[in-house]
Formats: sequence, structure tokens, C-alpha cells
Amino acid sequence: MTKLNAVITATGAYLPDYRLTNEELSTMVDTNDEWIMTRVGIKERRILKEEGEGASFMGAKAIDDLIRKSGVSRDEIDLVVCATVTPDAPIPSTAAIIADKADIRHALAFDINGACSGFLFGLEVVSQFVRTGCKKKAILVCTEKMSAITDYTDRTTCVLFGDAATAVLVEPTTEDLGLIDSDLHTDGFGRHWLKIEAGGSVLPSSHETVDQHKHFVYQEGKQVFKYAVTSMADVAAGIMERNHLQADDIAWLVPHQANLRIIDATANRMGLAHDKVMINIQNYGNTTSATIPLCLYEWEKQLHKGDNLILAAFGAGFTWGSMYLKWGYDTK
Ligand code: UT7
Repeated sequence: MTKLNAVITATGAYLPDYRLTNEELSTMVDTNDEWIMTRVGIKERRILKEEGEGASFMGAKAIDDLIRKSGVSRDEIDLVVCATVTPDAPIPSTAAIIADKADIRHALAFDINGACSGFLFGLEVVSQFVRTGCKKKAILVCTEKMSAITDYTDRTTCVLFGDAATAVLVEPTTEDLGLIDSDLHTDGFGRHWLKIEAGGSVLPSSHETVDQHKHFVYQEGKQVFKYAVTSMADVAAGIMERNHLQADDIAWLVPHQANLRIIDATANRMGLAHDKVMINIQNYGNTTSATIPLCLYEWEKQLHKGDNLILAAFGAGFTWGSMYLKWGYDTK
């Protein structure tokens, strides 16, 4: 039997228009551009301002963009996996709502939560379906309305996050392209340092939980930083080593965009020059599962068929991991 690989064949995205700048944030909390730029590296983030709209609104728009660019027919799509930490609601799945809004009627659709590693976890899941020949035109949509779970009175978190959605099409190929190797991890010991306490089955919503701001992201930044910086660098260097890749073999590092210092540490550990690292954190902040595919989307025209890419992420859980991809196409 012919061996199938799973390869990304198109990308799409949706970015809300509104730009929340460091200047505006410094009128809301005690912060400033200098602190944010030196400690994190963010200038502005996009915020979804449309009344009554959430993750599915942005996700469906990212799929519309993907379909317009790729020419794939909505009827052919047979899998929609949605990675998000900001679902429209607990039920139904945001994937089901997105498929409806995007007029996709013949696909298996479900959500996953890998937090900031959501794109890597989602690509692993989608690729398993595609490699077995079970699904032929799969979409991984990463959509995050982080502004809905961000406390804009907490300066330690509100400067970090932004809203965005992305979509990638994954198809089978018999060429030596696509997802070559992955090394993904979860260890729940980290769950206390990055979490949302209320709104779930343990602590359902109440007036009290709302008054205490327990529906927002809580992060002990220093602790998370400590683990993020070592885990992301270790796992990225590890995947290079086990695939016998030297720095010169790698076209791009595509890192999760949580903090420029974490990205720099990962690139240094891999021995990669700055100009081989995709960085757009300054424009969008941390959009959780959407950061890595947003880089792929923005750099698409500079990517060539056969380019070796290393993806790396770290997030709540803790979750972390790295992937080795051979890019599948040249963009005309
Ligand atoms: O994507 C999911 C995974 N998440 C991450 O990877 C994030 C990992 N953590 C980080 O990136 C960093 O820890 C942060 C960017 C969140 C914070 O940077 P830091 O260098 O670790 O700062 P810190 O928490 O140690 O705070 C240093 C000081 C504190 O003041 P004192 O106690 O030294 O007086 C904070 O109160 O900076 C203060 N501070 C701020 N000052 C101005 C914290 N936030 C701000 C702010 N503006 N926005």
C-alpha cells in the first residue's frame, strides 16, 4: 500500500480591524510601551469589537479566506477540527457552529483544547485522519477571542493577548512532504500557574465568581516563563537532533508568539540566525493557538516546496511540543 503523508496545501486567516496599542493600554492600567516592548515585545494586538460575535465568527471568516485562496469546494471538506480556548459556548462545539456558518455540510467537526500548543496538537490529530486515508480534505481552524477572557484591570496579563483566527487545509500526498515528525507533551503539574478558575463544572458561574474576576485568565508569569523557555528550546533542539538536522538545513523556525525572549532563547539553542525566525508578536500579541498558523499565513509567499520548518509551542496545561514539517508548495 502507498504510504500517505499529510501536508498543508493552503492557509487562510481573519484579523479583526481594531488595534489595541500599548499607548491605549497605558491609559487603562499602570503600564507603558517601554516595559511591554522590553519584557515581551508587543506593540499592538487586534481586538474583535463586533457585538455578540466570538470565536466561530472569526473562524468561519478564516475558512472563507482559505476557500477563496485555494479554490477547494465546501462540499469536498470532510473534516473540521477547531482548536480554541475561547469556544462560543460549552455546547455545541465551536467546530459545529463554524461548519454551519461556513456552509460545510459533509464534514466530521469537533473541538480540541491544546491551549497555546493547539495548532500542533490539532495538526497531529488532523494528520492522523489524513495519513490513514480516512479524510482527504481536512481543515484545522484555530480561533481565539482572547479579549473575552482577559482582565483589562490586570496589567500582568492584559498586555499579552490578542484575537485572531486562522485556517489551514491538510491533504494527503505520496510525496515526501508535510508532517515528518512530532514530539508533543502534556503535564498537568503546570495547571495551577496558567488557568481560568470559574465558569466550568467545578466552579460554575455565580455573581461571586464574576465579582472576583475568576472568569479571566490567571497567570503566574515568572513560573510559566521558566518552564516555557526551557521546554520550547529543549523540544525544538531535540526534534532537530533526532532528524539529523543542522541549523543550515532549516529554512524557518515557526515559534509560538508569547514572549520575544522565549523565541530568542529557542532560536539561540537551535543555533539559528534571527532572519530564519518568524516573528510577528509585535503586531498581534499572543493569540494562543493561532500564533503559529498566523506566521505561516504571513510568510506563505516566502516559503518554498521542500523547505524544512521547525514549529515549537508552549502553553497552559502545561502543553508543549515541536514539529518538523517539509513545506508543500510554492505560492504563485
Ligand atoms: O502562551 C502561553 C504561555 N505563556 C507564556 O509563555 C508567558 C510566560 N511569561 C512571560 O512571558 C513573562 O513572565 C511576562 C511577560 C508575563 C512577565 O514578564 P516578567 O519579566 O516575568 O515580569 P514579572 O512578572 O517578573 O514582573 C516584573 C515587574 C513586577 O514589578 P515588581 O514586583 O518588580 O515591582 C510586575 O508587577 O514588572 C511589573 N509588571 C509590569 N509593569 C509594567 C508586570 N506587568 C507589568 C506591566 N507593565 N504590564
